[in-house]
This record gives sequence, structure tokens and C-alpha cells, in this order.
Amino acid sequence: MATGSSSPVPARGNSKVSLGLLGDESVEFWREPLQYVERRKEDYGEVFLGRLLNKPTIFLTGSSSVKELLNDKWRCFTIGYKEFMFEIFGDNLIFHDGETWEQAREGLESVFELQNLSQSLDTVKQLIKDHIKETPLNSPTSAYTHFKSLATQISMKLFLSPLLTEDEMREITELMTIHWHGIISLPVNIKLPWVQWKSGYGKALAAKEKLLDLIRTKLQTQPSEIAAGVQSSCDTFEHSLNNILLFVTALIPKALASVMTSLLLELSKPENKRYCDCISDETFLEDVILECQRLWPPFFGGRRICTEKCVIYGHIIPEGHAVAYMSYSANRDNKVFNDPNQFQPERWRNENKHDRDLVWTFGGGPRRCIGQELVKTILKEWLSQFLSSLNWSVTSEIKKYKLLPVCRPTDDVMVTFSSLTPPTSINNTNKT
Ligand code: HEM
Repeated sequence: MATGSSSPVPARGNSKVSLGLLGDESVEFWREPLQYVERRKEDYGEVFLGRLLNKPTIFLTGSSSVKELLNDKWRCFTIGYKEFMFEIFGDNLIFHDGETWEQAREGLESVFELQNLSQSLDTVKQLIKDHIKETPLNSPTSAYTHFKSLATQISMKLFLSPLLTEDEMREITELMTIHWHGIISLPVNIKLPWVQWKSGYGKALAAKEKLLDLIRTKLQTQPSEIAAGVQSSCDTFEHSLNNILLFVTALIPKALASVMTSLLLELSKPENKRYCDCISDETFLEDVILECQRLWPPFFGGRRICTEKCVIYGHIIPEGHAVAYMSYSANRDNKVFNDPNQFQPERWRNENKHDRDLVWTFGGGPRRCIGQELVKTILKEWLSQFLSSLNWSVTSEIKKYKLLPVCRPTDDVMVTFSSLTPPTSINNTNKT
């Protein structure tokens, strides 16, 4: 692709790039991602060069550059997760590229179209209703743990089988936890390849095999609407198993619980309490959720690998470099959003009404999240039932957010719930 008057990406001392393992900044990034990004952004601008996972990595932190990357007009990038996550997840849509990806994506997209999911949406409503009914009242509860238990139930029953027993769910949860510990030990393992086979990672691979066995059995005997859809849309049974593994592993429940916790915390602030009335207006309810997803994306960013020298946002991206897009930073780009760090859902009906696709929480462009609309529906249903049934007060101080691997307050946030009225589903709300 032509480069015109483009400039190389500013590096933190170009020599760093050739330092091999010693120059790697993965651990520094992993420990304090925001500090890592903010410091370099201040020194080198919104596009800068670092070194992650033992590869020269160009960081994109502004909305326009992220948009250019994710739209990948020149088809110069492949997805950047395969080299360090393939083994732990197996062959699924996220790792495909080119024509194989296009075909697999087309099939799976139709599975996630909301009009094909009536049974799943009924399951979601009922699970939320039951969870709210069983909420412990008048005693301090960890918000994130509480929401994760709901999110885990939703993902298992929706993506695997609504008929799972309590014992099966417990077994899957235990395996998911072991599998998750293998995923989060990866950046360190990549930096120090000789510790790759330390016991946590080996155990995670064993947990993956057991999870696949369980998924195989459920898929053959009592699949959910989505699991059956995935099975008929995938070219091989192995691909169906691996896609379902991705959907039921801890990643998705953690992301859902992260948004639920962030919503609760934003709506707890005295200046935001007034937004709790949003349930009477479905469009505004969506704006409240979108605003929270803008400020607190569960995943800090994503990654691509450049396969052909190209230019992004006026900067040359050499072949073989990784490109990390920082959703968290781009979602707070002050060139797009006034007062970018403020929770202001009104912005979506005023100055940012045409910018809804400039929230990078679910990625963007052709590879945007396939579950985005489903997640939106789940969160709308949850927030609507939650706000119409429960009151709450946050009883612990929120000192710090950790942004990796999934965004949430570093310490448990304790919340005391109290009852408001019986739960109301969003459809019932609309009728009143
Ligand atoms: C709050 C919940 C979720 C968040 C924040 C989220 C976020 C994301 C992001 C950022 C990407 C883009 C990765 C990239 O291009 O670099 C993505 C892709 C993807 N997501 Fe989600 N996701 C969520 C829930 C779901 C659910 C519920 C499903 C399906 C059950 C799902 C399935 C996928 C798949 C299959 C892809 C890969 C798409 C492709 O490569 O074509 N996600 N997700």
C-alpha cells in the first residue's frame, strides 16, 4: 500500500526494539496498563511504539486510529491472538482469518440474530428474575461476585444447555476457573518461554479437555438453542465444540459481570442517582448502558499483526509488527467526547448522537463482537429488572480499578441490597 507523507511511529528509544526478551514491556504493561499507556502517550503522542509479548508493538490510543485499524480497509492485518491463545482455546472463530473466517463468521452471525433467539431470551429473563429473587437482602455482598454468579448461569444455560443441573454447573465452574488461570498466566509465560509449562498452564490444558468432553456430551443430548445453532453452522464438530468452549469459558461471564458492576457503581454516585429512572424510557436505558460501556470496557484493548507494510493514521506500520488498540483510551478520546471521563448518558441523544459506533468496547469493523446485540439485550433486561426490584447502598470505598485481564474494582466492592418491589421484565415495563 502507498505510504505518501507518512512518518515512522515514535519509539521509546528505537534501540529497545532490538533488545529481545530483556526489552520486553509485557510485565510493566500487565501490572499498570493505564499508567503505561498514559505516560507514553504524553511523551510520544497517541500512536507510539513499545514491545509486548516479545514483539515490537505499535499502540493506538485515539478513536480515529483505532477506527482505521479495525476497519482494515487494505486488509493488511491478521487477528493477533492466535500465537498465545490458540492452544488454550482451540480452533475457533477468533483465530480464523481470510476466507475461512468469512465463511465461519457468516454462519455464526445468523445464530446470534435476535429474531432467532426467542427461547434463549426467555431463559435470560427467567434467570435474571430468579437471581433477583434470591438476592441476599440487608447484608453486605460482594457486587462483582454476585453478578458473576448470574452471568455464569446465563452463559452456561444459554450457550450450552438450559437443562444443566446444579452439580454440572458446579463442575463446569471449577474447570472454568482452572482454565482461566492458564489464560491469565500467559503474558509472563510468553516473556519467559522456558516457564511455559509450569503447572498452572498444564492444568489449564487438562481442564480444557474435560470441558470439551462435557460440551460434547451436552451437544449430543440436550443442546441449548444457541449450541444447536452453532453446531449446524460450523463446518466440523470440532469447530462447534471449540466455539462453545469460548462462549462458556470465564471470559464472557467476567465481561458481563464487569459491566454490571460498573453500572451499579456509576448509578450509586449521588450525581448519577437520577439516572435510575431510566427504566421508563427504553432508549435512555440503552444510553445509560452504552455510556457505562464507553467508560468501563471490560477488555482494555485488542491486538492485530501487520502482514503487509501499511499506514494507519499517518504512521507507517512495518510488516510483522503487532498493533495494540486501546479501547479504554479511545473510548475517552476528547476529540470525540466532551468531558470524556464523565458519565453523561445524555451525550448520546445530543452531541454524540451519531457516534455510537465510536465506542470500541466490542471491537469494531468486520470483526466486531458477534455477541454484541445479545449482550445489549441481556444488560437491558437485567438493568430494567434490577432497578425496578432492588435498592442498594455501596458500603465499601472504591480505591482503585484494575483494568486487566478484565476491568473491575481491585478490591471487592461490598453492597447491601434491599427490596423495592417485585421484579418487572422490560416488556412489562413498556406496556405501562
Ligand atoms: C460484555 C461482553 C463482551 C465483550 C465486552 C466482548 C468484547 C469483544 C471484543 C472487544 C471483540 C473484538 C476482538 C478484536 O477484534 O480484537 C469480540 C469479538 C468476539 N466476541 Fe465478544 N464480547 C462480549 C461478549 C460476547 C458474547 C456473549 C459472545 C458470544 C457468545 C461473544 C463472541 C465473540 C466472538 C466469536 C468474537 C470474534 C469475532 C470475530 O473474530 O469475527 N462475545 N468481543
